[in-house]
Amino acid sequence: MLSDQDRIFTNLYNQGDWGLKGALSRGSWSQTKSFIDRGRDWITDEVKSSGLRGRGGAGFPTGLKWSFMPKVSDGRPHYLVVNADESEPGTCKDREIMRHDPHHLVEGCLLAGRAMDAHHAYIYVRGEFVREREALQAAVDQAYDANLIGKNNVHGWDFDIIVHHGAGAYICGEETALLESLEGKKGQPRLKPPFPAGMGLYGCPTTVNNVESIAVVPEILRRGGSWFAGLGRENNTGSKLFCVSGHVNTPATFEEEMGIPFGELIDKHC
Ligand SMILES: Cc1cc2nc3c(=O)[nH]c(=O)nc-3n(C[C@H](O)[C@H](O)[C@H](O)COP(=O)(O)O)c2cc1C
Repeated sequence: MLSDQDRIFTNLYNQGDWGLKGALSRGSWSQTKSFIDRGRDWITDEVKSSGLRGRGGAGFPTGLKWSFMPKVSDGRPHYLVVNADESEPGTCKDREIMRHDPHHLVEGCLLAGRAMDAHHAYIYVRGEFVREREALQAAVDQAYDANLIGKNNVHGWDFDIIVHHGAGAYICGEETALLESLEGKKGQPRLKPPFPAGMGLYGCPTTVNNVESIAVVPEILRRGGSWFAGLGRENNTGSKLFCVSGHVNTPATFEEEMGIPFGELIDKHC
């Protein structure tokens, strides 16, 4: 069972201020420059050691995925693409991050971008998520205004974040269909290989990650990969957001440890 001090999403129910001031008071954007200064390999290794697996469904190890991005540039830009399409029925976790704790995601984009030598992140937001997109865009704007991202920012890693409003189709959640849609084409899956790390957005090296996968990265770096790895179970470490709906007394989205028995999860939260 997750203890309060191990919680990452401390404004999940918007009980505080979701904006920059509130996020700073909850510890966001602290030590960020020192993580950037430690460089690409350090960030990737820390995420690898955390055992974090992608929260978009397939559970692919996140640090390993980042390490597929080319180490030596051939002149093409590298891109981070964040999958905020969240269309799976019953899934309503990424939207809570975007509207109530968006700075976790904004800071996570910068750190993940550094880990893959990317200077741009595109966040592809599900078409129906109007309020979520507005909150996320406001958080991105706040980060630009405070010089936390953008050109010549305080962290010393130039970084732009583009929030893109999706067209509203379930298939656009599949990563290669998402890339097609982002390029302005009909969102249809691409054949693999080539994989996005070799040829993704606009034919450039790209990593696609889920919102939650990126949003937990700042806290993993602040508290250490071993802290995250100490939660949950072997091969399924950390905490994550669970969404429960249906015939329960209190349907809810909440953060819990991976590996919690289903009965305990229902009894405790629902
Ligand atoms: C039909 C289909 C729909 C998908 N929808 C989503 C989605 O809405 N959000 C998401 O993050 N991943 C979705 N995925 C998974 C993505 O293709 C991809 O694996 C994921 O975004 C990778 O991020 P992660 O490694 O951080 O989990 C979908 C996959 C399929 C096949």
